[in-house]
Amino acid sequence: MQPQRHLLITGGAGFIGSHVVRRMVLRYPHYRITNLDKLTYAGNLENLRDVEDKPNYQFIRGDIADPVFVMNLFVTHRFDGVIHLAAESHVDRSILEPDDFVATNVLGTVNLLNAARVVWERDTRCRFHHVSTDEVFGSLGDTGFFNEQTPYDPRSPYAASKASSDFFVRAYGHTYGLPYVITNCSNNYGPNQFPEKLIPLAINNVRHLKPVPIYGRGQNVRDWLYVEDHAEAIDLVFHKAPNAATYTIGGSNALRNIEVVRKLCAIMDEKLQRPPGTSEQLITFVADRPGHDYRYAIDSTKIRTELGWVPRTSFEEGLRKTIDWYLNNTDWLDHVTSGEYLHYFERMYANR
Ligand code: NAD
Ligand code: TYD
Repeated sequence: MQPQRHLLITGGAGFIGSHVVRRMVLRYPHYRITNLDKLTYAGNLENLRDVEDKPNYQFIRGDIADPVFVMNLFVTHRFDGVIHLAAESHVDRSILEPDDFVATNVLGTVNLLNAARVVWERDTRCRFHHVSTDEVFGSLGDTGFFNEQTPYDPRSPYAASKASSDFFVRAYGHTYGLPYVITNCSNNYGPNQFPEKLIPLAINNVRHLKPVPIYGRGQNVRDWLYVEDHAEAIDLVFHKAPNAATYTIGGSNALRNIEVVRKLCAIMDEKLQRPPGTSEQLITFVADRPGHDYRYAIDSTKIRTELGWVPRTSFEEGLRKTIDWYLNNTDWLDHVTSGEYLHYFERMYANR
């Protein structure tokens, strides 16, 4: 008999969360999967249309920053596992308005930890998987990699809120015996990502022949990982990692922003049958992000050797799949970019 479990996945209507929910619902039909999401601007149930009718899946709309709601939810449903992805996730927004990042990322995480602590009573069959970011480690120079031993040095309000939540998870493990694991992953890309982040923003702007903003001179480096490879890593860590383990996860694919956007423009020209070089002319260098971290790169040796995880998708393949998805889902793009979308960019650039 396969074990029955009831997993709470928070933030499942967002970018990475939707891929994690889909994977868990389809791979573990004997589990019950509850997706808790506030449906902020970044959450969208269209991301889960193909699994919403599955008998092992349910969606609950709610705010993790509400402690009474969260406690009642745990007491009612008695989840035995949590994969926690709900967050405010965009660095530029955290620079503009940090308060929501404290409410959701810090206090929301603590509310979940409090509820899990009360309901689980140190039961080691339960597990709290906190999904975090490499940005907690700060910024690298031209060489070196982040790994599980790298000291924390968060430098944006987003990174500070995620670092704080990581510390709370560890502290609850140490102090109250709460069973947990933490993963710190590099930049993800793929379908369903809100087009405020570099890759989907560039795809959407190129599609409309609008300028593609590159902060500073485009020399900053990010380590890109295809989102389904991240979902696979989360699945492995949740099921196989020892208690209190942490893993750094990356695509071994560190690129300068300008390289990423040039590659994207070349593929877009091909897909949209535009003369080569058309999209690249849209690249526009703009004022740099305040406090912009220079370089992120991840050493994933631990998850590779302990759990056998490898990123399966090359950047070329992942970028092509991503561009195809956005070009085939222009209704989704038009829907999420209606409303407040343009006002956010006006406010962000007005502050630079
Ligand atoms: P996202 O912004 O696309 O989605 C976040 C989801 O959380 C949305 O569905 C939103 O509605 C929900 N949410 C926000 N506030 C909430 C609240 N108070 N209560 C309940 N739900 C709420 O984010 P993402 O890019 O999918 O990131 C998911 C997680 O992975 C985050 O914790 C993020 O820090 C982490 N992470 C992201 C990346 C990346 O490159 N995107 C890399 C590493 C780690
Ligand atoms: P982003 O997708 O916001 O992810 P993060 O800040 O979490 O790494 O940005 C990725 C990189 O691209 C980062 O160095 C900032 C840069 N960037 C631009 O140059 N232009 C843009 O319009 C955006 C959104 C990001």
